[in-house]
This record gives sequence, C-alpha cells and structure tokens, in this order.
Amino acid sequence: MTMLEVSNINCFYGNVQVLWDVSLKVEQAEIVALLGANGAGKTTLLNTITGLMRPKSGHVRFMGESLDNIPSHAILERGIAYLPEGGRLFPEMTIRENLEMGAYPMSLWKHRKENMERVFELFPKLKERQKQLACTLSGGEKQMLAMARGLMSNPKCCLFDELSYGLAPIVVTEVFNIVKSLREQGITVLLVEQNVHQTMEIADRAYVLENGRIVLDGQCCDLVNDDYIKKAYLGL
Ligand SMILES: Nc1ncnc2c1ncn2[C@@H]1O[C@H](COP(=O)(O)OP(=O)(O)OP(=O)(O)O)[C@@H](O)[C@H]1O
Ligand SMILES: [Mg+2]
Repeated sequence: MTMLEVSNINCFYGNVQVLWDVSLKVEQAEIVALLGANGAGKTTLLNTITGLMRPKSGHVRFMGESLDNIPSHAILERGIAYLPEGGRLFPEMTIRENLEMGAYPMSLWKHRKENMERVFELFPKLKERQKQLACTLSGGEKQMLAMARGLMSNPKCCLFDELSYGLAPIVVTEVFNIVKSLREQGITVLLVEQNVHQTMEIADRAYVLENGRIVLDGQCCDLVNDDYIKKAYLGL
C-alpha cells in the first residue's frame, strides 16, 4: 500500500494559484525529496498534506485513507509528523516541555513517557539538558529539538521542511544521518530541501517543483546524472 499519495492538488492564496495539478507518491520507508527554488510551492504542499491549508481541488491519502477534511491534530494522530520551516519551537519553554508539546493530542499523550525515552536514545544531549530553555540552545541544537519534538508522536511518516537551513556542514551531516536512521526504523520521510547535493545522497527518489508544477521526478541515482538537474540544482 502506498503510504502517502497526493493527487492532482490545486491550491490558491486568494485568487492566486500556487500549486497546479500536483501529484506525488511516497512508499513506506522511502526518503523522498521535494526540490525546488524559493517560492516554488514546497511549503504550501506540506501545509496542504497536513491540513493547515485546504486545496481547491485534489486529494491526499495516507495509508489508503482519505485525509480530505481531516483536521490537523487528527492527521498527527494518524501518524504524520510535520516539522515546519524554522522548527517553530516554544522559546520560553524547556526542552522537556517542548518535547511534551509534540505529543499533545489525547491518544498520543498517554504514550509520552515511552516516546520521550525513545527520542532521548536518538538525541542523548537533549536528555542531559531537559531543563534548559529552548531559546538558549544553539541553532543546531534547536533543529535537533525540533526533530525530536516531531518524533514524540511516534510517527509513521515525517514531513521535514528545510531541515538543513542555516546549519553548519557538520550539523547538516548529523541531521541527515538521523533522517537515514528513521528510514532504517521503517519511518517514511518526505524531505523539502535546498541542499540538493546532500539530499540526493540520502534520498531514494525526488520530485522537482517549479512555479507550482511538478516538472521532473525519478530515482536520485538517475537524477544526479540528469543534465537539467546538474545545471539547475547541482551547479555543475
Ligand atoms: N500566506 C500567503 N499568502 C499569499 N501568498 C502566499 C502565502 N504563502 C505563500 N504564498 C506564495 O505562494 C508561493 C509558494 O510559496 P511557498 O512558501 O509554498 O514556497 P516554497 O517553495 O516553500 O519557498 P521557499 O523555498 O522560499 O520556502 C509563493 O509565491 C508565495 O509568495
Ligand atoms: Mg518553504
């Protein structure tokens, strides 16, 4: 069964159309990248999948069931975690409190203790610093906390928006290694990224969004040799 299926999405802000007939599929335990220049519509698509925005037409299905008209918190409960651009932490809350917020719907709240233990295994530094305020963390630590908070819902599928933005190269590698480890645990990942070089190394497949339309898709091993991708996205 296809894990996540987006079919023929058309999205508008007011009268302005920003997504045109967008379709994509993500299979279980795949890492799929969504590439595209600034303003292409990547964040809009993630917002649409997670119910923060409603498309004018088109459908989203998750594990065979429709997500149309399902509220965002219920989409989280079904197993889709969303890490928005910039992480959106609660700056005046501690690491522990931020993590708890990742498990706020009732059905997830019951499992927050075991999920926190699991998350601390992946991010031991956060365990040591549980009481530290989020606003006092470094940029890299904030991104780790944002990822950890996303995993507090024990998701089947993670949507990451610009995970590597503003991070030092060594932290980017660390963050991408965590994404790879999610795939090993059977978690499905849809990754929006500007860091095309490293994304192509870890992702299985990629879609390219330009001006709200999917213009290209394929296996990453093929796309890295594609002349258009090389020129437009890899700077070769
Ligand atoms: N709230 C909004 N109201 C009106 N237009 C918007 C709104 N949010 C986004 N847009 C427009 O929709 C288009 C797609 O924006 P979106 O944020 O989805 O792009 P993106 O691919 O995520 O870009 P970036 O790489 O810069 O994050 C852009 O032209 C943007 O100006
Ligand atoms: Mg964006």
